[in-house]
Amino acid sequence: MTPDLQATVKDLMPRLTEELKQLVRLPSVAFPGFPAAPVEQAGVAVARLLADAGLPDVRMMDVPGAPQAVFGHRPARDGAPTVLLYAHYDVQPAGPEEAWEGGRPFDPVERDGRLYGRGAADDKSGIVMHAGALLALEDDCPVGVKVLIEGQEEAGEGGIEEFVAANAELLEADVIVISDVGNYALGVPTLTTSLRGMAACDVEVETLEGAVHSGMFGGPAPDALVALCRIIATLHDDAGSPAVAGLATMEYDGAPYDEAAYRTDAGVLDGVSLIGKGSIGQRLYGAPSINVIGIDAPRVDGAANALIPKARARVSVRLAPGQDPADALKAVQAHLEAAAPWNVMIKVTPGTTGEGFLAKTDGPAYAAATQALRQAFGKEVVHYGVGGSIPLVAAFLAAIPDAEIILWGPEEPQCKIHAPNESVDLAELERCTLAEALFIAGLCDAR
Ligand code: BES
Ligand code: MN
Ligand code: MN
Repeated sequence: MTPDLQATVKDLMPRLTEELKQLVRLPSVAFPGFPAAPVEQAGVAVARLLADAGLPDVRMMDVPGAPQAVFGHRPARDGAPTVLLYAHYDVQPAGPEEAWEGGRPFDPVERDGRLYGRGAADDKSGIVMHAGALLALEDDCPVGVKVLIEGQEEAGEGGIEEFVAANAELLEADVIVISDVGNYALGVPTLTTSLRGMAACDVEVETLEGAVHSGMFGGPAPDALVALCRIIATLHDDAGSPAVAGLATMEYDGAPYDEAAYRTDAGVLDGVSLIGKGSIGQRLYGAPSINVIGIDAPRVDGAANALIPKARARVSVRLAPGQDPADALKAVQAHLEAAAPWNVMIKVTPGTTGEGFLAKTDGPAYAAATQALRQAFGKEVVHYGVGGSIPLVAAFLAAIPDAEIILWGPEEPQCKIHAPNESVDLAELERCTLAEALFIAGLCDAR
């Protein structure tokens, strides 16, 4: 081990924790309808953080239809390789404040070694990890470093994918490090071998010109919500497996996910069955999953005795790595249209799509990352899939096809990313930062 780096990162932690708190205080939600100012401020704060970490040439770059991205570059010396570090500074909306203990999603608090706040893990911890690794590295490290921190990951599709495609030369690197995933379990060093893709759409059903009295007219006329529910009910078979023809599966051969651990991590209530078939890992990382993530219909409180003329649902499908999201979307659309009962009017509007990812695990950088993780955590490294999506990874691969891509970070299952009471374990952040510093320092030897 490089004892210096270990001690250096340890000494950096108070500063890095403070920097992370500063970032969490900025509610950088880049969704439509949320204030733009804190998003801009977060971009500026990230630029300052990277400049303070000694990265030269830090600048804000325009991204079509998205907040500005932060880019900085220290050129390689003596023929050393170049690494591109990626993370995102936008966050999910906080959701209902009451659901947060203390009620303050953007007022970070430290409790039992964890820092709580929206974005504390996803993905402001990833930004701090990069900055920390840069701070820890000695000046004589000849590895070239590029950093790209963007502000529109959570919003799904945006200009950032086009930005990457249009700036392939600027972003050119031997290795791309994405710190926007997490360990298999807290304290277990992990490399992510795959990401699922996604395809979402909105399905709207209409049956009547308008709402009418449900006693006077109910019976012969179909109400739109019942029709929509029947359509949704066809998306799974009785065992709960996806029932849409044309959705691909892939064999998952990474680390298994214990069923009891999965139930605990996901918070599945006692007695509630799990759905689908195959191992948990296979269902999560090698198979599609179909969920309804939103529905527009009258609220129960104040519901009138009236037939519902129109209802809408958002169907969100996670795809096995390797499936073309456009094909999947077509398959889902065709399924929904064919499932519409009673000749109701149905309209399917395509939504977010994103490609999955399958890592190349036999390259020198992957081996070096494994080694760095093992050193930093003092444990054997686990290789596993992630059920979530980072569509930009496929865009990186398309733009820079020869680069090796490393996915890691502090977003382990206890972080509750996207949920109330999101948090990051600060010791985990320290270990991840150390791993990244060791990795970059060791990159020269790996080539
Ligand atoms: N950091 C997550 C990806 C992730 C998910 C990592 C689960 C580890 C575990 C990322 O910010 C994210 O939320 N991605 C979106 C992508 C979507 C908007 C296209 C997702 O998976 O929903
Ligand atoms: Mn993220
Ligand atoms: Mn996210």
